[in-house]
Amino acid sequence: MPKYGPDPLAHCASGSYSNKAYIREPLILVCNGCGAQTGSRSFPLVVLDYVAILEFGHLHRCARRFRWGSHRGVLSSCALLRGLTLLNARECAGKVRRCHGDLHLRNICLVGGNPTLFDCLEFDEDIAAIDVLYDLAFLVMDLWHRGLESGANLVFNRYLDECDETDGLPLMPFFMAIRASIRAHVTATQAEQASNARRKELVFEAKAYLALAVRLIAPARARIVAIGGLSGTGKSTVAAVVASQIGPAPGARVLASDRIRKRLHGVRAEVGLSKQAYCPEVSERVYAALVQDARAVLSTGHAVVADAVFDRTANREQIKHAARDIKIPFTGIWLYARPETLFTRVDARRGDASDATVDVVRAQLASQNDPHDWIWVEADGAITATAARVVEAIEAT
Ligand SMILES: Nc1ncnc2c1ncn2[C@@H]1O[C@H](COP(=O)(O)OP(=O)(O)O)[C@@H](O)[C@H]1O
Ligand SMILES: [Mg+2]
Repeated sequence: MPKYGPDPLAHCASGSYSNKAYIREPLILVCNGCGAQTGSRSFPLVVLDYVAILEFGHLHRCARRFRWGSHRGVLSSCALLRGLTLLNARECAGKVRRCHGDLHLRNICLVGGNPTLFDCLEFDEDIAAIDVLYDLAFLVMDLWHRGLESGANLVFNRYLDECDETDGLPLMPFFMAIRASIRAHVTATQAEQASNARRKELVFEAKAYLALAVRLIAPARARIVAIGGLSGTGKSTVAAVVASQIGPAPGARVLASDRIRKRLHGVRAEVGLSKQAYCPEVSERVYAALVQDARAVLSTGHAVVADAVFDRTANREQIKHAARDIKIPFTGIWLYARPETLFTRVDARRGDASDATVDVVRAQLASQNDPHDWIWVEADGAITATAARVVEAIEAT
């Protein structure tokens, strides 16, 4: 049975959701502190809508009592209805499961160097049975809040490398926003009980979480950025730096040919493959899978960074056509660096998804087929400089 009915307000109004009104006052405290008007649309009603539907169900009463304006208009917005349909579909598909439930950074520690989760929600099965992406969203949001956007994007991408949750991507900005507003609520509650000195600090933090919630659900366009270049030019490194800045939160899905090749061979990304795994026929399958994955992600409204050598015209055309078919902007970036730079980097690289050696780079240099219609970015220097040039090129297209 789907958990979320077609008219969430009916549930709220009938009181079939528990009225956890304790969220109300702290949020109002924070909003008043921000100078936001509770009656205006600038108040993050959409976030509260989701909170209401997913967890608290008190919005209808709050909205009436505090005259928050046209909440029904917000609730019937397309994005929200699409979200509800998706939530139901994912629950039917078994994506609502018993999870950690409270997966923020304070509940992860290193034991013997391994990240270890603790303090999961074990006292209430109902609260802990959530969409798996909602669980992930807490960690991703918390990293984002601390200014570690690239780390947040990396966690998101590695999770999706392991479990294909592409269909749920449209929910990620909302899930992250709800998590941020929950942190705002919890922090504001602490502020109410704190001494004067500590209170100021906590209100500041609560406001920052709420502001983040609003930013996370700001509309952002899907787009595709293809990063090509010979092995060692720094494609994967640049992709990891820029992905968080592309498309809806938590940034672009990075689709790397090296990781796809390993997946097709049923091994972990860091496991080396034989030469046979790099023959032209296998490479064609890898590029075909990359384009197929890209189309699936783009059709959800999310952005893609495609990380592959792209040294064949046909492969460059395939990825460009995927963007054209879905009518989204395409940026083709071609990284280049001196051969000595490539040899040094490839030789020093360890534990990577790429199996390229110095000999592989030599072969690539010998049969080079440079793209003339992609944007060339020099990649010999510091990674920050290369990444800045790539971001500039993306913004200009
Ligand atoms: N601008 C840079 N300066 C120094 N080292 C870099 C730079 N870019 C990448 N590297 C390092 O060089 C190696 C190759 O980079 P990588 O991103 O894996 O290249 P590619 O994906 O193009 O094969 C990695 O070990 C990476 O840490
Ligand atoms: Mg790479």
